[in-house]
Amino acid sequence: MWSVRGKVCLITGATSGIGRETALGLARNGARLAIVARDRALATKLEAAARRAGSPAVDLFFADLAVQSDVRRVAGEILAKLPAIDVFISNAGIVMNERELTVDGVEKTFAVNHLAPFLLAKLLRERIEAAAPSRIIIVASQVEARGAIDFDDLTFAKGYTPLGAYDRSKLANVLFTYELARRLHERGVTVNCLHPGVIATNLLSDYERKSRLGGKLLRLTHSGPKEGAATTLRLATDPKLIDVSGRHFKPTGEARTSPASYDLQLARRLWEISEQLVGEAEAPLHAKGGALE
Ligand SMILES: NC(=O)c1ccc[n+]([C@@H]2O[C@H](COP(=O)([O-])OP(=O)(O)OC[C@H]3O[C@@H](n4cnc5c(N)ncnc54)[C@H](OP(=O)(O)O)[C@@H]3O)[C@@H](O)[C@H]2O)c1
Repeated sequence: MWSVRGKVCLITGATSGIGRETALGLARNGARLAIVARDRALATKLEAAARRAGSPAVDLFFADLAVQSDVRRVAGEILAKLPAIDVFISNAGIVMNERELTVDGVEKTFAVNHLAPFLLAKLLRERIEAAAPSRIIIVASQVEARGAIDFDDLTFAKGYTPLGAYDRSKLANVLFTYELARRLHERGVTVNCLHPGVIATNLLSDYERKSRLGGKLLRLTHSGPKEGAATTLRLATDPKLIDVSGRHFKPTGEARTSPASYDLQLARRLWEISEQLVGEAEAPLHAKGGALE
C-alpha cells in the first residue's frame, strides 16, 4: 500500500504559497522533505515548521531556477545527498510583469515555469526511477487552455504580455507532463499534473497591483493556500493513484485539458526545443526564435 511516510519528497517553490502548505502537509504525513528554495531565511523557517509538523528529515537546497547553471549545480548536490527520490513535485512558478530574458537568453517565465522542471526531471530521472514506484507531479494551471506556443518567437520579441507568457508556460507544463508520462511508461514512475484552484498567494500580487481591478477585488474570489495544496497532496499521497499516469487533476477530481495539450506533435517538438534550450541536444540552438535573439 502506497504511503509517503518515510519517503523522500522533493519540492520546488515550497517557501511560500501553495508549495509551503504542500510541504507541511507532506510533513504531517511523515514524509522526509527535500526543499529547493532561493531564500535562506524562508527555507530555514519552513524547515523548523516541517519538523514540528512531523517530518523525520528536512534537507535544504538552494538555487535560482531561472539560471540553468544553478539548476545543474543543485541537481548535482541533490544526487550527492539523496539516495532516493520517491516523489518529485515541481511547484515553483512566476508571473513576470515585464519581459525579461535570463542569463541563458530565455524568456524568464518559460525558464522558471517550464525549462527548470524539464531540466531537473532530466537530471534527476535515474534517481526517481530507482525509487519506483515513484511519482512526478507538475503544478500546472487551468490557464493552459489559453496558452499558445509560437516556436518562432519563444522569447516574445514580437510583443509581450504577462499572462501570454504565463499561459504559454502552463500549456508547456501539461504537454511536458503527458510526454514524460509516455516516456516513463512501464518504468514504475507516474507523471501527473494539476490545477490547484484560484488561490490567494504571492504569484499574482504584482500583476494585480498593476491591473485595473486591483488586488483586493480579485482576492475576494480566491481560496487560501491550504485549499491550494489539497490537489498536489492528493496526487502525492493517494494509494489509489499508484498506476495513474499522464492525467490532469483539479480540486474536484480528474479533468481533461485543452485540445492543444493532447497534440503529440506539439509535445514532441516542445521536448526537442526544450532539450536544445537546456543544452542537452546534439546540436545547440541558434535558430531565430530560440534562446538567442
Ligand atoms: N495561485 C494560484 O491561483 C495558482 C493557480 C494555478 C496555478 N498555480 C501554480 O501554483 C504554483 C505555486 O504558485 P503560488 O500561487 O503558490 O505562488 P507563490 O506564492 O508566488 O509561490 C511561488 C514559489 O516559487 C518560488 N520561485 C519563484 N521563482 C523562483 C526562482 N527563480 N527560483 C526558485 N524558486 C522560485 C518562490 O520562491 P520565494 O518564496 O523565494 O518567492 C515561491 O516559493 C505555481 O506553479 C503556479 O503557477 C497557482
